[in-house]
Amino acid sequence: MLNTQNGNPALIRLIRAEIEKRGPVSFAWFMQQALYHPEHGYYSSGRCAIGRTGDYFTNVSVSSLFGQLLSAQFVEIWERLGKIDNFVIVEQGAHDGQFARDVLECSQKHVPEFFAALRYRIVEPFPILQERQRRTLEPFRDKVEWGDSLQSFVGVHFSNELLDAMPVRLISGGMEKLVDLEGDKFVFIEPQVSQAATACQATEQKGAFNQPALDWVDSVAASLERGYVIAIDYGLLAEEFQAKIQVRAQHRNLDSPFEQIGHADITMHVDWSSIIERAQAKGLRVAGFTDQHHFLTGIVSEPGRGGSPEPPADNCGQPLLADSPKRKRALQTLLHPEMLGRAFQVLALEKNIDPGATRLAGFKFAR
Ligand SMILES: C[S@@+](CC[C@H](N)C(=O)[O-])C[C@H]1O[C@@H](n2cnc3c(N)ncnc32)[C@H](O)[C@@H]1O
Repeated sequence: MLNTQNGNPALIRLIRAEIEKRGPVSFAWFMQQALYHPEHGYYSSGRCAIGRTGDYFTNVSVSSLFGQLLSAQFVEIWERLGKIDNFVIVEQGAHDGQFARDVLECSQKHVPEFFAALRYRIVEPFPILQERQRRTLEPFRDKVEWGDSLQSFVGVHFSNELLDAMPVRLISGGMEKLVDLEGDKFVFIEPQVSQAATACQATEQKGAFNQPALDWVDSVAASLERGYVIAIDYGLLAEEFQAKIQVRAQHRNLDSPFEQIGHADITMHVDWSSIIERAQAKGLRVAGFTDQHHFLTGIVSEPGRGGSPEPPADNCGQPLLADSPKRKRALQTLLHPEMLGRAFQVLALEKNIDPGATRLAGFKFAR
């Protein structure tokens, strides 16, 4: 009998049949099926669930405070671009649209001039997630548009935990780990790396090669006319980078990506250095890189802009830093170095911005 380990049996059969037919497959192919198989993938099927009743937390699911703080950063970018009236926020990996809603609600209430100038564009390849986003964003249907690929824009591209969800190959020291079958179980094997892998020799020692992330950098660099890219994710710089697969279901870390296939999230630490190198090669400049603790502290320390009001001003109907124990707890979760503050990093890239411009608020405490 097939060992399904509580995963999606149809998906497991399909992966198994492929390995039986063409031999061991790359981990990137396996991860692509587990997360993005059109019918059965964890994300593409709509099985994915984030938040208290789901499989894991993200910044977005902690509190609407996250979107409110980011909207303050977007307002600063809009001001820097001369308060243009066709400012676009592009989001990729928008899940159920909650972040977009938090940003739009906050801007509408707090910075109407910015809200009036704003278009929100979600790049979402999966119809079932697009459907959820449309429901969440129904009050803003005139503000939001959808597409399945990036188009030219002036403004800011935002993503939270997008890059860590991209399928990676596991290559290290001239070897590529492949996924094979041993009886009814999936296992890793390590044959010599193929000729085709020579393209990724530069990252061979690091253990993981994220081609989709590099392709993403290329397409963001090509579609951004002027503005910023802000990517938030958990990862490491080159000297510290170690490939680490994380598998999460119902708020538990599973031991292996072969458990609960199609029912669990699979992620890989982001290799920030390879993203930065590629971005610079494609004409983007680094506008800042820091951990989430310093990033959000920088935004909070500049009161009066967007989601970061001068106390005791109204912040989207709720006091931001005082009076609400729930929001205090949320801020602590986002900021605290032992919670999400140090686990996540923020990379900002810029294009066609005056090189003499001051640092964005989020990077004023960056080391
Ligand atoms: C870890 S979830 C993060 C969701 C959300 N940003 C949050 O923080 O709660 C990763 C998301 O990225 C999406 N994703 C992965 N590759 C994508 C791509 N090329 N374009 C758009 N979305 C993508 C997945 O479908 C999934 O919804």
